[in-house]
Amino acid sequence: MRWPTAWRSRPEPGSPLRSPPRGVGSSNEAPRDNARVTEPISPSPWRLSVAPMLDWTDKHCRTFHRKITRHTRLYTEMVNSGAILHGDQERHLAFNADEHPVALQLGGSDPADLGACARVAERFGYDEVNLNCGCPSERVQKGAFGACLMAEAPLVADGVKAMRDACSLPVTVKHRIGIDRIERYEFVRDFVGTVADAGCEVFIVHARNAWLQGLSPKENRDIPPLRYELVYQLKREFPHLTIVINGGIKTNAEIETHLQHVDGVMVGREAYHNPWLMHDWDQRFWGETEPSALTREAVEAEMVAYMAQQMQTAAVPWAHMARHMLGLRHGLAGARRWRQVWSDHKLKALSPLEVSRLAAQAQ
Ligand SMILES: Cc1cc2nc3c(=O)[nH]c(=O)nc-3n(C[C@H](O)[C@H](O)[C@H](O)COP(=O)(O)O)c2cc1C
Repeated sequence: MRWPTAWRSRPEPGSPLRSPPRGVGSSNEAPRDNARVTEPISPSPWRLSVAPMLDWTDKHCRTFHRKITRHTRLYTEMVNSGAILHGDQERHLAFNADEHPVALQLGGSDPADLGACARVAERFGYDEVNLNCGCPSERVQKGAFGACLMAEAPLVADGVKAMRDACSLPVTVKHRIGIDRIERYEFVRDFVGTVADAGCEVFIVHARNAWLQGLSPKENRDIPPLRYELVYQLKREFPHLTIVINGGIKTNAEIETHLQHVDGVMVGREAYHNPWLMHDWDQRFWGETEPSALTREAVEAEMVAYMAQQMQTAAVPWAHMARHMLGLRHGLAGARRWRQVWSDHKLKALSPLEVSRLAAQAQ
């Protein structure tokens, strides 16, 4: 089957999908009148993003990344639909008002549950709701979601439809190029085609297969080979869809190369371990004309103030937040000693300001 014919009349690639949500948000940290949707200054709001990463991209991490880049799209960790529907929503979903544009990534497969979660995502003020069809962990497979959903495109399509019916946010899907030993391009093409027919217009494609047997999630991020060409081919075959490429991308030169073939690039581990990579993204990729006056020291100082505020208002230990910025001085002389101070739990009784002074002296 060839998919594109049904799509000729759809919006141009990268055009904003639907009206962004207005006046939404219900938590203390992203209150209704504070929710802000950053108007994209680039043709595609998906041009650059930081990947969803479990245990890593929590709200403190996203707040840190936002201090380095104003426009890059940020994703939450995957949150299971069950946790949202039956758990502490505030704990799982609250975010800081300055994180926008920020997308909630859902894990789940039941269309009714996904629809209900999408409605909650909109109420909390998220800018997008994304469905995880790429996670290979066994726990996720037992719950019959994540990457194994790539074998059930009609179910994903039902989920997408339910989510779209339930909210006015863009509904997007993150997936792999295949599962197990299915290497054929037609597999991912048919998946995208079926899900696009349900109204999904943005696909974030991790350009390697997920091997559901025998590899840990970590190995599944490194061992199956990267095949960027398949993602480029998706863009050629579905020019009206927004196609975002992900997997193994580490430098601005690589990002620039990919942007010649697809609408957007999502960076995961490199953004986390080497966050300063992002310091000129607003100018380089988002069209900001003001030269960046940002320094690592200024970002650290802002994080010190943020950590002090979080300790005071929410009793969050500073180490819980500082762990996300340990890569800030990546590549600089003295970075290791600076990092050792910021990860020294014996200093937990000190204030973040005192720790930052010690870290500065240690370099
Ligand atoms: C610690 C960690 C946790 C991850 N958690 C998620 C997740 O919750 N949802 C998801 O879709 N992908 C998750 N991923 C995969 C990333 O989003 C991304 O697809 C992958 O790391 C490849 O991109 P990269 O090479 O730029 O890191 C995770 C990756 C890492 C390293």
